[in-house]
Amino acid sequence: MDPVTSATFYRVLFERMITRSQLISAKDLEVDGCMFLDMSSGTANGSSMELGECIQNTGFHEDDETEDAVGGDEENRTSTVKMSPGREEDTYTQIKPYAGMPKEVLLLYSVQARYRLPREILFWLTIVCTLALVALTITVIVMSPRCLSWWQSSPVYQIYPRSFKDSDSDGIGDLKGILDKLDHFQYLNIKAIWISPFYKSPMKDFGYDVEDFRDIDPLFGSMQDFDDLLAAMHDKGLKLIMDFIPNHTSDTHQWFNLSSSGHAQYKDYYIWANCNTTHAPNNWVSVFGNSSWTYVEERQQCYYHQFLKEQPDLNFRNPHVRREMTEILRFWLEKGVDGFRMDAVKHILEAKHLRDEPQVDPQQDPDTIDTEFELHHDYTTTQLGLHDILQAWRGEMDVYSREPGRYRFMVAESYDYEETDKTMMYYGTPYVKESDFPFNFYLMDLPTNLTGTGAQGLVNLWMANMPVGKWPNWVVGNHDKPRISSSVGQEYIKVINMLLLTLPGTPTTYYGEEIGMMNINVTIDEIQDPFGKFNPNASRDPQRSPMQWSDGPNSGFSDANHTWLPLHPHHTTVNVEAQQKDSGSVLSQYRALSLLRQAQLPLHRGWMCYIWSDADVFAFLREIDGLDKAFLVVLNFGADSVINLSAITELPEQLTLHMSTKQENYGMPVIKSSIATARGEGLLLEYSTHMRFNPGHASQCFVSEKACYLGVLDILYKC
Ligand code: GLC
Ligand code: MG
Repeated sequence: MDPVTSATFYRVLFERMITRSQLISAKDLEVDGCMFLDMSSGTANGSSMELGECIQNTGFHEDDETEDAVGGDEENRTSTVKMSPGREEDTYTQIKPYAGMPKEVLLLYSVQARYRLPREILFWLTIVCTLALVALTITVIVMSPRCLSWWQSSPVYQIYPRSFKDSDSDGIGDLKGILDKLDHFQYLNIKAIWISPFYKSPMKDFGYDVEDFRDIDPLFGSMQDFDDLLAAMHDKGLKLIMDFIPNHTSDTHQWFNLSSSGHAQYKDYYIWANCNTTHAPNNWVSVFGNSSWTYVEERQQCYYHQFLKEQPDLNFRNPHVRREMTEILRFWLEKGVDGFRMDAVKHILEAKHLRDEPQVDPQQDPDTIDTEFELHHDYTTTQLGLHDILQAWRGEMDVYSREPGRYRFMVAESYDYEETDKTMMYYGTPYVKESDFPFNFYLMDLPTNLTGTGAQGLVNLWMANMPVGKWPNWVVGNHDKPRISSSVGQEYIKVINMLLLTLPGTPTTYYGEEIGMMNINVTIDEIQDPFGKFNPNASRDPQRSPMQWSDGPNSGFSDANHTWLPLHPHHTTVNVEAQQKDSGSVLSQYRALSLLRQAQLPLHRGWMCYIWSDADVFAFLREIDGLDKAFLVVLNFGADSVINLSAITELPEQLTLHMSTKQENYGMPVIKSSIATARGEGLLLEYSTHMRFNPGHASQCFVSEKACYLGVLDILYKC
């Protein structure tokens, strides 16, 4: 707008305002050649103007079509209009604001109390609300408990790849076979899958003897198959945990060849000591039996092996070896692997002095010592420096754990038997992280402790010794140990699965446990396991038989004429397909429990409190502070029984049967003074109460990742 048009515009506007209100009389305005709006500046956003201020108006247009309502006189067009001081308030309270009024006019209204007050109230309200929101956000962040990570919220499922599913009809399972079966995990609500080794290997220990840590054995597929499997797993929200085998390589690994020939760079990659063909450097024996030293003609020295002679131990005192292994870890982390099961970690270091280990029986003839149980392993296991190595790897993994949802999980494998404190050290310290948990193998002793009290004792062995704030886990089987349903009897497999899935912490499931698979019989000449060849009673073949998918040929495991180990004869009835159709099957109950564990706060985050144990029954409750819904788990490891829990005043008189491993009448009321279980039955009873049990019974109760529930907001908070 040019200045003239603009001036006209404002004049007209002003006049209209006055005309419309018809409330301003000439006497209210003092005309002395000065208009109170600067009509000449032409700036709609002109500077604010104070009432009564007088500015020369020089620019009214001659041909204005609007009547001059103020002066009404052509001569007075260039004039000053002054408002009486003190009267503007009266004047403008009577004029209604209108859309499109100029800023200067608007400002006249805005100082009025009726506009100013609400404005100020709104302003302060906004400030207060903003501050409140900031405070609330900070409170929520500070008060929010940590979310459970993927390895805490799902069971860990172990696949032994030779035995899971064969896709290329050679009778041996492979990576593509696993890919074909990913739906099984979605069906079971399992997110974390540990696959035993599939590295390139001469298979002396079925993959635990690695020839190339950066390659896939052709038996299992190719690197492309691996990449495809990992991508497909990630697409389905599944996590892949690999075996990492730091202690040893295969004797066909190129490092070992170079080391044996004394290559300058590799000669110290393994543990070499002077010896001759008849005398080992010391009395150390291998886990798989006999001396752990083997003589190499080429070097005229012995090398050390904790396991088979085809599995020479790496020398972790050599910084190059450490670096090599760390790079291998990075190689797989870069590929996107979600975690590692650290194999045989207690064996990583040995004493440098090579002194004889003390005999368990000092009277025994030293020449007859050939099993690991005859020596105290003071110099060959859990040596100083071991945890530094693991902690450094944890640090590496943390570097790859920074993106949300990409936490890399570490589990350590170490059989320390009764030396619980040694096992617990793999949890790290409050200041230095190590594994997320070491495997808890104590429940593998259930077969020899098959009573309610026995089960509680084994559970307590972990809970009472686990460092505060750490996360428990439960294992009843793996590729090294006989299947639990064979050692305790199949009638207990459901109650054992219920134990695993209702305890606090991560349950682990060895393939086939979800359908109650049992050991196979392997004749002496059929033995495949090298350990079994040394000691047939210790053969691990029985627990490695092919997975039972259906009642079809080879139970749906393979199209081959021959499978690497025979199938269990019961595969026609004990298989995934059949059990999916049966709501009372081991599989259906496993699935129901797995879903329930995820859905019910008390089960995955709550307290566990021991309530009862006797020769038959082990009972504990699961509750979370703030939530009235709680569960009582009653597990029968003996004979039919009735227990009376009247003394537990925190329990209501009546509970509801949520699930039983034997009956179908869910929803049925159960009276606390008479809780009946049949042999091998597990009950999950639900109840509602305002009285929490844990506050008055600290010594009977455990919680990890403690949190409380706030019903009004339906959230968890730190408490
Ligand atoms: C671990 C494995 C076992 C293997 C041994 C040697 O203990 O679980 O199967 O034989 O390490 O690598
Ligand atoms: Mg195959």
